[in-house]
Amino acid sequence: MASVNTLSLYFILNLFFLLLPVNPLLAFSLKNCTILYKENVSADVSVDCTNMNFVTVPDYIPKNTVSIQLGHNQLLNINIKDFCGMSKLKNLNLTVNKIAYVEQGSFIDLVLLETLDMGNNKLTSLTANMFKGLSNLTFLVLSKNKIQHIHESAFQCLTSLQTLDIASIPLTKVAEILPVFHLPHLLALNLKYIGFTTFDTKDLPLNLSLSLEVLEIFSSNLKILSIIGPISPYLQTIDFLLTDSVKQVLLDKSLLKNITNLDVAATSDSFEGIHEVLGSLERLGDITFEYVDTWFPNGLLPAVCKVQTLRKLTISRSHFDNFTTDLALCSQLRELNLEDTFMHKLSKGSLQSMKQLRFLNLGYNMLTEVPDDIRSLSTLEILIMGENDISGLKCDDFSKTTRLKELYLNANRITKLERCITENLVNLKVLDMSNNLLKTFGDSFKVSLQKLEALDISRNPIKYLDTDVFQHMKALKELKVETYHFVDVPYFSGLENIENVTIYVHTDSTFQSLQSNNDKPFSDVKTMKQLTLIGSSNTQWMPFRTIREMLRAYGDLGTVTVLNIYINYYEVETFELNLQLKSLTLSLTDLSSIGSKFFLPLPNLQNLDLSNSKLRSLDFLVQANLSALRYLNLTDNEINVISETVFQSLPSLRFLDLDNNPFSCECSNAGFIHWVVTNPQTQVVNAHQYKCFFPVDKQEGLLLEFDVQSCRDDGRFLYFISSSFLVALTLLSSFIYRFLRWHLTYTFHLFRAFLYDSRKGRKKDPHRFDAFVSYNVHDEDWVYREMLPVLEGQQGWRLCLHHRDFQPGKPIIENITDAIYGSRKTICVISRSYLQSEWCSREIQMASFRLFDEKKDVLILLFLENIPARHLSPYYRMRKLVKKRTYLSWPQAAQHPGVFWQNVQRALQTGGALTENTDLLTGPAGI
Ligand SMILES: *[C@@H]1O[C@H](CO)[C@@H](O)[C@H](O)[C@H]1NC(C)=O
Ligand SMILES: *[C@@H]1O[C@H](CO)[C@@H](O)[C@H](O)[C@H]1NC(C)=O
Ligand SMILES: *[C@@H]1O[C@H](CO)[C@@H](O)[C@H](O)[C@H]1NC(C)=O
Ligand SMILES: *[C@@H]1O[C@H](CO)[C@@H](O)[C@H](O)[C@H]1NC(C)=O
Ligand SMILES: *[C@@H]1O[C@H](CO)[C@@H](O)[C@H](O)[C@H]1NC(C)=O
Ligand SMILES: *[C@@H]1O[C@H](CO)[C@@H](O)[C@H](O)[C@H]1NC(C)=O
Repeated sequence: MASVNTLSLYFILNLFFLLLPVNPLLAFSLKNCTILYKENVSADVSVDCTNMNFVTVPDYIPKNTVSIQLGHNQLLNINIKDFCGMSKLKNLNLTVNKIAYVEQGSFIDLVLLETLDMGNNKLTSLTANMFKGLSNLTFLVLSKNKIQHIHESAFQCLTSLQTLDIASIPLTKVAEILPVFHLPHLLALNLKYIGFTTFDTKDLPLNLSLSLEVLEIFSSNLKILSIIGPISPYLQTIDFLLTDSVKQVLLDKSLLKNITNLDVAATSDSFEGIHEVLGSLERLGDITFEYVDTWFPNGLLPAVCKVQTLRKLTISRSHFDNFTTDLALCSQLRELNLEDTFMHKLSKGSLQSMKQLRFLNLGYNMLTEVPDDIRSLSTLEILIMGENDISGLKCDDFSKTTRLKELYLNANRITKLERCITENLVNLKVLDMSNNLLKTFGDSFKVSLQKLEALDISRNPIKYLDTDVFQHMKALKELKVETYHFVDVPYFSGLENIENVTIYVHTDSTFQSLQSNNDKPFSDVKTMKQLTLIGSSNTQWMPFRTIREMLRAYGDLGTVTVLNIYINYYEVETFELNLQLKSLTLSLTDLSSIGSKFFLPLPNLQNLDLSNSKLRSLDFLVQANLSALRYLNLTDNEINVISETVFQSLPSLRFLDLDNNPFSCECSNAGFIHWVVTNPQTQVVNAHQYKCFFPVDKQEGLLLEFDVQSCRDDGRFLYFISSSFLVALTLLSSFIYRFLRWHLTYTFHLFRAFLYDSRKGRKKDPHRFDAFVSYNVHDEDWVYREMLPVLEGQQGWRLCLHHRDFQPGKPIIENITDAIYGSRKTICVISRSYLQSEWCSREIQMASFRLFDEKKDVLILLFLENIPARHLSPYYRMRKLVKKRTYLSWPQAAQHPGVFWQNVQRALQTGGALTENTDLLTGPAGI
């Protein structure tokens, strides 16, 4: 009998699951891969499977994928089926794997593939026609493989290839890479750190017709570098390294004539080779030197500066201090980059000759003042002097650089920025003064800085900017400031074009204690599009009202980011007013008791990031009406249980990230789990890696591996039989069922209680709790915020809450039974969600059974919302079976919460039955 029923029950359950819309092809949550979020709706799919320990290419990557990142896995080989049918793929990245073998024809369908990265693998040979099908490939990386052989037709199909990277492969002779030189459209060839000891064009076939423009042959293995004869008429860039081991550098003079870019690094003293080379470079425009300390005394700069076509000179990681005057010979330069050259001083006269210099980078040095020569650079447009030791600016430092557009003086020790300093900077668009020691700013910029578009004065001890400081910066779009720069709230009056403001928030400013009687604290700025508030530690706090007032004042805001600030949002219930908001980040804060109306009117919100914010539940989203929300980031929170009904209120949701939350692997999450694996629209990022945190015995297990079906059959034999019996009866006749349903349920509960009582020996144990509170997770917020403080706090009752007081590990039905029998009363917090919840209905039935069984008044019904009779019918019948009851209604008591709680107290005190005339605040609740 039992097995027959078991079968029929499983049949029913399976039928139930089959009928649900389960379509794995539509399901969006890929195992161990993420479909990257795109701002705009588009058919293009990009999949990220990086760093997931894949041994084989997963078979569930959608065929219409445009880009696949499979780097940093354990792939051993590539097979035909791996990428078959992916005719839209443009970018495939297989870097850092263990691929040793690629099956013939693996890439045959990838007709649109443009980029293939197979660097850092274990390929030992490139076989015949290995890349067949990749006729549109332009970029191929094969560096850091163990390639010892390249078949002559390995590259045959790569008719569009432009860039080939075979750096760091162990081949030792030019002859071994000959197939490379048959690639018809190759423009750039990277041979860095290849095993060659000799690169000699003599070894190449004679009648080559190459279109090569860039050759990188930067290797410490190289002993002979000889490029004689026409390797390619288009060669422009050579990148090479000279070390002590290099014995011979022979570069064809006519070839060198055509070179425009040269990158040289040297670890040798032998300057002769390069000297000769430099002498033949007739078209060189751009040259870079690294580690060339020893070459300066040998006349490096005089030799370089002879190249009249030179436009751009970069020297870095070399001690340049004593040789700056050599620069005087390089009057032809347009760009000079001397970053990180250990420079204390740029000698007078070094730059004076450069009458066409537009770009100068002196960053990351040890300069203590602005070099005198800057004054003569009247053509300069960009000047970088960040990360130096400059302590003061002189009035005439920038007196002649009137064309300057960008000036970076960040991370110095500047204490003053006087009017005379900026007076002549009439064309300045970007000024970065962050991280200095400025105490004041903006004496007056009435004349200058009228074209300024971006200003950063953050991380300066400026106390109090004048209210009219920005009055003349009509063009300013982007501003970074600290709260203590302002007398009270940030004032932006005069900034007619401001779009993007970042404010670093500090507790010691008056900013967060806005007077509540000041009803327009922020002046209106209608152009603002993006506002970022950053606290320096999470002890920083701010009333939510302040943020809301800013939203109100900055009418056009589309993006708001609040990081690392504790927001005091109790005073304000909802966001209100900013209907334009598209993107909101509240991260590194505490949103643990956020109200259900908090996000209410944000109809256009598309991106919401609440990561790292101590959230415990998502119930606040149910009422939020975020109908446009597409992206939701909830990583690093404290969410245990999610009700799948939340997602009904987020109809546009595409991307949901819940990584790093302490999920509970219990039946309370069954609906959520089912939703994750079956919903056809929302991708739950990394869902397959979410771990169980509760119960203890399931820790480290995976959430999605939790057996959802066990929730429909919790293993209790008796319950099982009676359920099966019910199901069988249902099947037999709906007519009989209709009449017998409640009798059956009742019989079942009678039987269960009989079992319970006989097992516990009907011990008259003193009740551990005054009341067991039965409620739905949706109403947890109300229970914790409204009910607990009054009943436990003020009235002193001991309540049993299932989240708090249930014993982990024990079957839930046993927990419920114990709770109901271990408490004097049972309070049912009734809402629509409560009525829909399976477990709760068992709770109410069990409690009503006890009421009937013990002839004691144990049940207190609290209605949280008005519920029409038809929604109540099953429970109503149940109640009718038991006894006619009165109940308490919260919506109707809203005006008199005091009276409401008094009535609850009275109900908790009574020992016997409540009568109709007990003076409870009751309501019809539609019954
Ligand atoms: C997915 O990732 C988990 C954890 O990283 C791993 O245990 C599992 O084997 C992976 N699944 C596949 C199909 O690679
Ligand atoms: C492949 O991915 C790695 C990171 O995993 C990245 O560094 C590399 O640039 C990518 N290759 C290409 C060609 O984009
Ligand atoms: C290569 O791509 C271009 C567009 O980028 C397309 O027009 C062409 O048909 C493609 N070639 C092949 C062989 O598919
Ligand atoms: C230099 O370039 C010219 C055309 O720009 C070409 O005719 C000539 O062959 C090139 N010289 C070498 C050595 O590649
Ligand atoms: C620069 O010159 C000074 C004095 O002539 C000398 O002490 C110092 O070592 C030189 N620095 C370098 C990097 O050559
Ligand atoms: C606004 O400023 C932030 C912080 O500097 C920056 O990340 C963002 O890209 C800027 N946005 C625009 C539109 O300029």
